[in-house]
Amino acid sequence: TPVNKTTAQPALPDAQTVTSVKHWTDRLFSFRVARPASLRFRSGEFVMIGLMGDPDPKTGKQKPLLRAYSIASPAWDDELEFYSIKVQDGPLTSKLQHIQPGDQIILRPKPVGTLVHDALLPGKRLWFFATGTGFAPFASLLREPETYEKFDEVVMMHTCRDVAELEYGRQLIETLKSDEMMQELIGAENLDKIRYYPTTTREQSPKMGRITNLLKDGTVFDDLGIDGIDKETDRGMVCGSLEFNKDMIATLEGFGLEEGANSDPKHFVVEKAFVG
Ligand code: A2P
Repeated sequence: TPVNKTTAQPALPDAQTVTSVKHWTDRLFSFRVARPASLRFRSGEFVMIGLMGDPDPKTGKQKPLLRAYSIASPAWDDELEFYSIKVQDGPLTSKLQHIQPGDQIILRPKPVGTLVHDALLPGKRLWFFATGTGFAPFASLLREPETYEKFDEVVMMHTCRDVAELEYGRQLIETLKSDEMMQELIGAENLDKIRYYPTTTREQSPKMGRITNLLKDGTVFDDLGIDGIDKETDRGMVCGSLEFNKDMIATLEGFGLEEGANSDPKHFVVEKAFVG
C-alpha cells in the first residue's frame, strides 16, 4: 500500500508506532501512537505529525509531510491520541487515513498551543466551543484533572453537520463518565461537572443550530439553566474553522470577554482546528 511505501523505513526521523486506528465516518478517524518517553506537554497543546512524502520525480528524495494536530489524549496518558479529518485529495490525510497498527508516523516532539489552563484567568465555569475535529483538544482537556480542580462547571458545546460526526465526542464523554479508572483519577463528582451540549446543523437531531446563534439568542442558557456569560465567572476555549473562530471571538467579546494568551491570561483563548 502507499502507506507502507512511505512509512516502513527504518530511517524515518522522529518515528512513532501506531497502536490503534478507528474510523468514525467516511470523513473522520482517530488513532493512537506510542508516546516518546521524553515528550512532555500540557493538555490542549498540539504537535506536528505526518508521513514521508512521495519521492521527488527528479532526485528521488523524500521530504516529511507534516501538519499541526492537537493531541486529543491527556497529559498523563502513556499513548498519544489524534482525531483527524480525511480529505480525499489532501496531501497528508489522503495517505494518513490508511495507517494501520504497526505502521510508523513522524511526530515532532515540540508541543505548543494556546488552549491551555495557564492562558486563562481563574473562573467558575469553563466553556469548550468546538466544531468538527475542533473537538480534539477538548478530548484532552476533558480527561485532564486540572480542568475540574480549577472550575465548578464545564460546558462542552460541539457542533457538526451530521449526527454521525458527533459520535467520537459523544462516546468519549460517555466513557469518561462511566469508566472506573476515570472516576478514580478525576473523581465521580468532578465528572458530574460536565454538561455536554451537542448540536447539528444539517441533519435533524434533538438540538440543532450553530454555537454562535445558540449563544446569541440565549437558547443554550435557557436549556442549561445558566444566566448568561459573564466575564467575572465564565472562561472559554474555542477550536474550529477560521470562520467559526472569528465569529466566536466576536460573540464572546459581545459578552464582554477578552482574548488571552500564554503570556497574557484573560477570559478566553482560541486555536484553529488545523487540518481540513
Ligand atoms: P453549517 O452546517 O451551518 O455550515 P464544517 O464541517 O464545514 O467544518 O462545519 C462544522 C460545523 O461548524 C457545521 O455544523 C457548520 O454549520 C458549523 N460552522 C461552520 N462555520 C461556522 C461559523 N462561522 N459559525 C458557527 N458555526 C459554523
